[in-house]
Parts: sequence; structure tokens; C-alpha cells
Amino acid sequence: MKQILHVNVNDYDIEISDSGFNKLKSDLDEFTAGKKRLIVISKKVYSLYEQFLSLNPKEFIIIPDGEKEKNFKNYMKILETAYKLGLTRNDIMIAIGGGVIGDITGFAAATYMRGIDYIQIPTTLLSMVDSSVGGKTAINLNDGKNIIGAFHQPKAVFININFLKSLDKKNLMSGLGEILKYAFIEASCNYSKSIYFYEYMTLCCDKFFELDSVTLIRIIDYSLKLKTAVVEADEKESSLRKILNFGHTLAHALETITKYKKFSHGEAVVYGMFFAFNIAYKKGLINYSYYRLSIELLEKYNFKNINVAKKFNPVKLTEIMKKDKKSKQNKIVMILPVSKKQVKEFEFDSDELLKMF
Ligand code: GLY
Repeated sequence: MKQILHVNVNDYDIEISDSGFNKLKSDLDEFTAGKKRLIVISKKVYSLYEQFLSLNPKEFIIIPDGEKEKNFKNYMKILETAYKLGLTRNDIMIAIGGGVIGDITGFAAATYMRGIDYIQIPTTLLSMVDSSVGGKTAINLNDGKNIIGAFHQPKAVFININFLKSLDKKNLMSGLGEILKYAFIEASCNYSKSIYFYEYMTLCCDKFFELDSVTLIRIIDYSLKLKTAVVEADEKESSLRKILNFGHTLAHALETITKYKKFSHGEAVVYGMFFAFNIAYKKGLINYSYYRLSIELLEKYNFKNINVAKKFNPVKLTEIMKKDKKSKQNKIVMILPVSKKQVKEFEFDSDELLKMF
């Protein structure tokens, strides 16, 4: 089974399929024919899939996994290797791995010779439904995630769900967090049709956990239809794209305060969404029925509705939220639900937000 989505920003295709790795390799060879290539592959993916991908040793480098690897040293390693291999503006980089590999390779491609093409081959559920699409590329400062970056759209995205067979539960749940986010924001996404993703997610829980191919392809396809509609309307996040940050203001603070060690990204986003639903209900933005149904949807997928933020110092969390890229003039910006599948941006003073914990 294969789904192809076209993205109008930079005119590229996203292919979502369950074909064998031979087909992935031949599609990639066909797409990059006549070009010099630098493949940047995650250490973990290399160790698991090397025999299936049989890469040419002259054209790949391995980068270890983990957020701390999205650093200047690895970024320079990619650029130096590209230069040594003689890549020019007509050539291409290829990222094979999760969000860390995709982000750092994308940023290297954005800056090498003032910008060359790159292809995303995401191998985790989280990177399949989020970071591989939309052109956000970056590396980290020691204390700041994604502080050095650029918008640089990929030339193609090849999503092969066979990579998910080796994904551990924590990473699967992390991707699921972002997927559920799309269900809650569908009506705000500017997509031309109704997908009924919220309803679909209420029905496909068992099939999702069985890793049923049709279900996974459909879920990824729906998520990306919504994401690309948003990106097409607002590539550089000056307005609409901010809605993709639903759940993320608290999530980033939780990740920062725990030094990225306790929560996976999607899990932190889920706690951020619970928090946002609680605030929206307290403020009277949504009715009890929608509040309950949404909490139940998250619980159906085994996420627990605990106010995790209570376990940390709310003053510290609020301070971190104020430093977020999204905050403006000392106000904390949060995306909150306002009706079924609809969200809007709100601004809070620290004191006002502290009362919501
Ligand atoms: N991950 C949110 C975005 O791509 O805008």
C-alpha cells in the first residue's frame, strides 16, 4: 500500500508505504540518479538495518542518537564530509533516522553552499508525523533546543512504516502524542475537507497497537494532510503554524526542567494537552462534554490524566515558559481548545498562569 501527498511549499512529495527495503533503496537511487549523495544515518538505525539498506561506504556517515548529538560538532562533521565528497549545489543530502538526524542534516543542507537539497527518511513515528515534514531544521545550544536553525523544506520524504517494527514502546507513545494533537486541532488546520481524524482515532486504538499497516499508513497520512495544510498556509510560523504547538508550551518546560531525561517529547506534549484542556475548561472555553470526551480519548491510548506539572515548581516552569521562542513581551503564549477540534492562541501573565496549576 502506498499513499502520496504533494506539498505545495517547495513542491515535494511525501511517500508513505509499507514496501520492502529493496523498493525504498531503488526509489531513492532513482530519485537521486546522477547526483553525489551524502547519507547521514542514525547509529541505531544503521546497526538494525544496515544489511537491508546495503549503503555504499563512500557515501554515508553515522551520527549517534540522542538530543545532545544535535550539536555543532556533528553539524561540522556533516559539512566537512560533504565537502570532502565534493558535493556541490546540484547534489543532495539524505537523512535516515529520527528527528535528531533529520533536523541536523536538514540544517547542514540549509547552510552548505548556501543551501542544497535533502531528503528525509524518518524512522520513528514521531519524525514520520512531525519533524520530517515542514522544513524546520536546527541544532541546539547547550541550554537551548533548536536555537540555531533555518526553514529549509526537503526535496522528498520517504516514509516506510517497516521501520516501526523495531521501535520501542516509549518512542511509539511519543509519536502517538503528536498524532493525537492533530485530532484535537483538525478544524483549525485549513485543510480543504473533513478528515474526521478525532473520530478515526476513537475507533482505531486496537489496530494502532497491533501496528496494523493500513491503520498506520492512514494515521500518518491524516496527520500529514493536516500538518502540510498548515505549513502551506504559513511556512514561517508567523500565524497559523503556531497551532501545531498545541500542548507544547508546557511540554518544552517539562523537557527543559527534566533535562530531556524523564519524558519523551510526545509524552510531554500529552501532559501539555491535559493541562491545556484543564485550563480551557476552567476558563469556560469548552463545555464539559467535549472536555470529558477528549480526556477519555487520551486515556484510551493509555495516557494518564495527572497534573504532572504539580510535581515540579510551578514558578520555575512558568519562568521557563516565558523564555520559550513563542512567548512575546513577557507574556506566555499557549494554544488552547475553544470548541470541538478547534484551537486558538492565548496570552497569559505569569501570575495568571500560576493560578492554573
Ligand atoms: N513541530 C511543529 C512544526 O513543525 O511547526
